Amino acid sequence: MADFREDFEGKVVIVTGAASGLGKATALGFGNAGAKVVVADKKVEEGKEVCSELKGMGTESIFVETDVTSEDSVKNMIDTTLKTFDVLDILINNAGTGGPHLGQPFTRTEAVDWDTSYKVNVRGTFYCCKAVYDLFIKQGHGKIVNMASIAGKTGAAAIPHYSASKAAVINLTQTLAQELAPYGINVNCVCPGLIYTSIWKGLGYLMGKNYPEVFADMSPREVFLATIDKMVPMKREQTEEDIANAAMFLCSDAAKNITAQALNVCGGAEIK
Ligand SMILES: NC(=O)c1ccc[n+]([C@@H]2O[C@H](COP(=O)([O-])OP(=O)(O)OC[C@H]3O[C@@H](n4cnc5c(N)ncnc54)[C@H](O)[C@@H]3O)[C@@H](O)[C@H]2O)c1
Repeated sequence: MADFREDFEGKVVIVTGAASGLGKATALGFGNAGAKVVVADKKVEEGKEVCSELKGMGTESIFVETDVTSEDSVKNMIDTTLKTFDVLDILINNAGTGGPHLGQPFTRTEAVDWDTSYKVNVRGTFYCCKAVYDLFIKQGHGKIVNMASIAGKTGAAAIPHYSASKAAVINLTQTLAQELAPYGINVNCVCPGLIYTSIWKGLGYLMGKNYPEVFADMSPREVFLATIDKMVPMKREQTEEDIANAAMFLCSDAAKNITAQALNVCGGAEIK
C-alpha cells in the first residue's frame, strides 16, 4: 500500500460499500494513512467488522448502516458523520452492484437488471454527491471519487446494463467536476478492471453456466482467469489494494490539479 500519511492524517473520509471488496480495502487504506473513516454499507455485520478492524489499527471509525438508493438514508450518513467528526473531507462512492442477472447475453437481460444497476450505481452516486454538494462548497474544500469501471468505457458482453450504468457514473463525474471546479473541489472516477471480489465470484459462476461453449467445466475462479487472459494485456489480475491506492492518489495533494478524470486501473484492458 502506498504511503499517504501526510495527506490524510486526521482527515474524515466516508467510503460507501465499505463492508467488503474494494470499499473495504479503500477504507483500510485511508485508515492506515491516519484518516478517520466512516464505513457505510447496507450490510451491518460485515460493516461493523471492518469498523472493528480499523479501530484495531488505532483508527477512529464509525459504522453507519446506509442504503445509497434511499435519499433519507444517505442524509443520515452525512448527518451522523458531521455529528461525530464535525467535518467531512472526502467522499468515496464505491457501493455498486450488477443486478440479479449478470453474466448473460444482452437479449436475456431484463428490466430489473437495468433498474437495479442504475438505482444503486447511478442514483446512489447522485444522492451521495448531492448530499455533500453544499457542504463542500461552504467549507471550501472536498474530494469526491466515484467507483466506475473499465466496462463503462469499453462496454462489456455479459454485463450490458452494468456497463451502461458505469458509463453514466463517468459522465455524472464529468458534469459534477465542471460545476465544482471553481470551488477547488476535485471530482474523479476510478475505473477498476478485474478484481476477484464477491461481484466476480458471482459473475464467474454465471458466465460458466451461460456460456458453456467458452467456459466448459470451469470454476468461477477459472472463468475469471480465462477472462483476464483474453482481456488484460498485462495478463494479471488487479487487486483491491491497486484500487485503494488509485482512490487515495486522486484525493491526495499530488492530484490537486486532476479533476473530471476516469483513471483506469485495469492492466491496459482499454487498449486490448
Ligand atoms: N470487482 C471488480 O472487478 C470491479 C470492477 C469494476 C468496478 N467495480 C466496482 O467497484 C465497486 C465495489 O465492488 P466490489 O468488487 O468490491 O464488490 P462487493 O460486492 O464486494 O462490494 C460492494 C459493496 O457495496 C455494498 N452495496 C451494494 N448496494 C448497496 C446499497 N444500496 N447501499 C449501500 N451499500 C451497498 C455491498 O453491500 C458491498 O459491501 C462497485 O461499484 C463495483 O461496481 C468492481
